[in-house]
Amino acid sequence: MTIGKMKKHKEMLLIPVLRPHLPKTYWMTKSRTLRMLKTYSSVFIKPNHGSGGNGIIRVKRLGKRYEVRSGSSLKIAKRSSILKAIRSYRKSKHRYLVQKGLRLGKYHGKIFDIRVYLQMPKHKWMISGMVARVAAPHKFVTNYQKGGHAKPLRRVLKSLFHHNQSKVDACYRKIKKLSIVIAKTVNKRHSIHELGVDIAIDKKGHIWIIEANSRPGHMLFTQLSDHTMIRTIMKNKRSIGI
Ligand SMILES: Nc1ncnc2c1ncn2[C@@H]1O[C@H](COP(=O)(O)OP(=O)(O)O)[C@@H](O)[C@H]1O
Ligand SMILES: [Mg+2]
Repeated sequence: MTIGKMKKHKEMLLIPVLRPHLPKTYWMTKSRTLRMLKTYSSVFIKPNHGSGGNGIIRVKRLGKRYEVRSGSSLKIAKRSSILKAIRSYRKSKHRYLVQKGLRLGKYHGKIFDIRVYLQMPKHKWMISGMVARVAAPHKFVTNYQKGGHAKPLRRVLKSLFHHNQSKVDACYRKIKKLSIVIAKTVNKRHSIHELGVDIAIDKKGHIWIIEANSRPGHMLFTQLSDHTMIRTIMKNKRSIGI
């Protein structure tokens, strides 16, 4: 069994430097979801043990109506029937959480987020790879399994920050720092040697921690024409013994 998203979220919340970067996240209940939709224009509902972008539901306010999406299916609901629409997409045996929806930055019109791949081949966490994951057209998840593809991070940040190099560098450094803190935090309670951190940059340039995966996929990194990162990842996997 993987470590649940909520457990890791709560562990990260205990660390003051991470707190401003964690979007509000709660166990999903009817009242919590409706309350969050009063504060935020969209919320993401996800299975606590989900991966690969599976089972994610987005609810977005559109004036007096709400759009409830899962995969390529879409329903329009009144406030009183939002939960019915959500339930139609939910798998009853799974526990779900509800999270503030983030307005992800875009690259050539498509949303993107960032995957940081961390490993501990010896006694220290290191960043083996950092890449931007650009979503497939019209998708609201960026996962590789859902058609997301890798682009060099600096190129994507440059475009987001309109070629302001000092903003690009500051953002890059901050993501690196936060990722190491996240790895150390999750590693305090769980014995792990690899971690994949999903980071979002919103339209205002704020950095958000979406989640941390203790079993990250590495296929995304094979899509880059520069093979340095994937080589490092594979080399470290061999020394870790996985
Ligand atoms: N709160 C959110 N706001 C905006 N986009 C989100 C949010 N949560 C998830 N996403 C999008 O959905 C993707 C998958 O969500 P994530 O929590 O990483 O679950 P999984 O374990 O399935 O990868 C993210 O990479 C991101 O593109
Ligand atoms: Mg993820």
